Amino acid sequence: MQAARENRKILIQDDVRFTALALEVGTRDNVLITRATASPRPFVVAGNWKMNSDLAQTIELMTALGKGLSQSAVQACGAGRGHVVVAPPFTSLAIASRLVEGLPIQLGAQNLNHHDSGAHTGEVSASMLLSCGAGWVIIGHSERRAMGEDDALIAAKVAAAQAAGLKPILCVGESLIERENQRTFSVIRKQIAEGLAKATLQGLCIAYEPIWAIGTGVASRPDDASAVHSFIRDHIIRIYGESGGLVPILYGGSVTDENCSTYFAEADIDGALVGGASLRAGKFLTIIDQCVKARCGD
Ligand code: PGA
Repeated sequence: MQAARENRKILIQDDVRFTALALEVGTRDNVLITRATASPRPFVVAGNWKMNSDLAQTIELMTALGKGLSQSAVQACGAGRGHVVVAPPFTSLAIASRLVEGLPIQLGAQNLNHHDSGAHTGEVSASMLLSCGAGWVIIGHSERRAMGEDDALIAAKVAAAQAAGLKPILCVGESLIERENQRTFSVIRKQIAEGLAKATLQGLCIAYEPIWAIGTGVASRPDDASAVHSFIRDHIIRIYGESGGLVPILYGGSVTDENCSTYFAEADIDGALVGGASLRAGKFLTIIDQCVKARCGD
């Protein structure tokens, strides 16, 4: 906790350089910038439905999310303070895009192919995702890395997404063995350096998802996650310069409605990539609200 507090103090001092940007969203931010929860970055709460939900279940879940979105979440998203993203399976994107019309819920895909078109049976391109209403795409999830995706392919996917105007959420994270062997930072450094080899900052978002925490119920300690986020942020600033400090970095791995506020209290954690808990409207809505509360002070 002490480390987190010190971290936050440093961030606030550093935030002096972001003041002009923060002021653009209203005078209230001028006050917020002096608070512990101030952040120059938008929050992002993204739900990764993985291979769950047929059309009927998609309609049910999206309708519940639309109805349950709180006023404070609507206002925060409307004011550009952050984003709520839902990533259903490809087969549900088109119907989901109709269900979120007029709502501050954006759609993401869970993968894409880096080619524009052609003989790639079973694959889906960036332009196809855009035509179904997706604005975001999760890239390099550990479940896809486990299917053989390497950093070079992931870099090509990030570049293809950005070229098409999709916002990539690049996932990075270490395995349990890598963590136990103190290799967390070297693994993350490689995944970031190689995954972003062809990337710009345009719409870029990173998700730190320790593999051992995904779907296990064993979430990372918030201060541990925060230390990795801070490492990632420094690395991105080194690559892109100061504006790299505006890239949102999300935590993912067994985030629930019960533990989410402990992550959102960390200055370096800008939101969450949520798997299992995003399939329950009530839980996902609570996670959104907790993030809005922590980030926007409502
Ligand atoms: P989880 O999944 O929240 O179910 O752990 C997170 C993810 O895989 O993105």
